[in-house]
Order: sequence, then C-alpha cells, then structure tokens
Amino acid sequence: MIRVDSIEALREVRHQWRMEDQKVGFVPTMGNLHNGHLSLLDKARERANKTICSIYVNPLQFDRPDDLANYPRTLEKDLAKLEEIGADMVFCPTDEHIYPRGMEHATTVDVPGITNVLDGAHRPGHFIGVATVVCKLFNMVQPELAVFGEKDFQQLLVVKRMTADLNLPVEIVGAPTARESHGLAMSSRNNNLSTEERAHGAWIFKTLQAGAKQLLKGERDFQSIEKTQIDTLKAQGFDPDYYSIRRNFDLEVAREDDETEDLIILVAAQCGKARLIDNLHLASYS
Ligand code: PAF
Repeated sequence: MIRVDSIEALREVRHQWRMEDQKVGFVPTMGNLHNGHLSLLDKARERANKTICSIYVNPLQFDRPDDLANYPRTLEKDLAKLEEIGADMVFCPTDEHIYPRGMEHATTVDVPGITNVLDGAHRPGHFIGVATVVCKLFNMVQPELAVFGEKDFQQLLVVKRMTADLNLPVEIVGAPTARESHGLAMSSRNNNLSTEERAHGAWIFKTLQAGAKQLLKGERDFQSIEKTQIDTLKAQGFDPDYYSIRRNFDLEVAREDDETEDLIILVAAQCGKARLIDNLHLASYS
C-alpha cells in the first residue's frame, strides 16, 4: 500500500494510474477504522481497479470542540488494517493541506434544504463541513466512484445532491450498514461505550424494527409510532434527539399516501458518552 501525505504526491500517483487507465474507487474516512469501513473498501474494490482511502478528522464538521478533541485517533492501527485488506493507497492530509488559509477563511459548500433537518438541525454547520471536505477530497483524489455508508443516510443524500449540483464526475455508491451481532450499527463512536452500553445500544435498532413492523402492517399514524418509540428509548435510558419517519429521497416528513418502500425511519440518541445514529429504510426490510 502506498501512503501519501501531500496533495502533490497524491497527484503524481493519480497521474500514473490515469495513464494506465485504472478505475479508482475512493472511501473517505476520519480513521478509527472498523469492519464497517472495511466493507466500504470491499465495495469500492468490487467496482474499481484501485482503491484509495483517506484518513482526515475534519474539524469543520464538528459543532462541539470537545467532540473534536475526543474523536479517537488510531492511525497506526488504521494503516495496519488497510494494509491487511489490500487497499492500494492511503491519503493522510493535514489541516494545512485541507484549509491552507485557515478553516474560518475557507470557501465552503452549502447544500440547501436537506441539511437543515434531523442531524443538520441538531448539529449546526455539520453538513457544510461534510460537503466542503468531501468536495475538496474529490478534487484532490479525482476518483471515478466513491463509497459512503448508509448508516449516515443524511450524509449520503447530501453528498449525492452536492455531486449532482456541482456536476462532479464521481459516481456515489451507498453501502449497507454493518452491525454488531446484537444489532448495534458499527461506528467509531461505539468506542466511547462500555461493553454493557454496547449491548444496550442494540435498543436503537430494536425501536427501528418495531416502527418498521407497524408501517408494514399499514399503520399510518406516524406521530403515534414516533412517540411510542421515543418513549421506549427514554425508558431504556437514552436521550433521543429525534426518531422520525421520513421519505427516503428528500427527507421530507412522511405523508399518508407515500409508498411504504419510500419510507425511512431515522434516529439519533445519546447513549452514555456517545451520540448514536441509525436508520431503517423500509424497502430493505420485510
Ligand atoms: O463519514 C465520515 O467519516 C465523514 O463525515 C467523512 C465522509 C469522511 C467526511 O469527513
């Protein structure tokens, strides 16, 4: 595996690969890699000849300084995992590469509409940070395709919208959420949970399944389903930010005549020291 830390070194290898007609699949990450990330790289490898992973903890997408400071940084372990699964290149830029004139003076990318709800409402500026860094990384890496996890469903939609609106020549591929055996969605934030909390975190997926069952039965009182599941989460000791039934293509609040397969339930809840998010798209649940 080639490791590059500068944009110049990245461009040199990229130029070589372009001359060889290699198709590049890209997985941007903030490191602290787990099996979920590795499954994104597997997906990239299925569809491309060369895979590039970036590791960069992007300060612009953190709405709280303590969250940024506590974000787990495990570079040596990450590099070993990437080497083991056979990634072709890892790109590890610094803040100076990404924000050469400082974060506060950076040109930013703001995707309207879908960024103001759910996580966007609870984490002001978060999606400007995500869209900006992903746009910059796409311009640096110039991949043919990029893979993002469906666990961060709103992020996936924001990246798709940004790529289409800015005519970026990158195919965006979504990959299914990897889960622990008891159902908890894999996330770097799970590292902030004790073993007991991890097992208890499975309740988040259980409430999604319970809501989905009601919807599949034809229940259309969305607010009642949401309230029941929020109450369950609270009773189990979580502090939910939202549990919301939406349309999967625009994240608008679900309407009575929406097709069941177009519905998605999204949830965010604090569990101990970790804020966990998850979702269940009805089309992939029966
Ligand atoms: O999902 C993440 O890890 C980050 O939001 C991303 C896409 C790497 C941008 O920093």
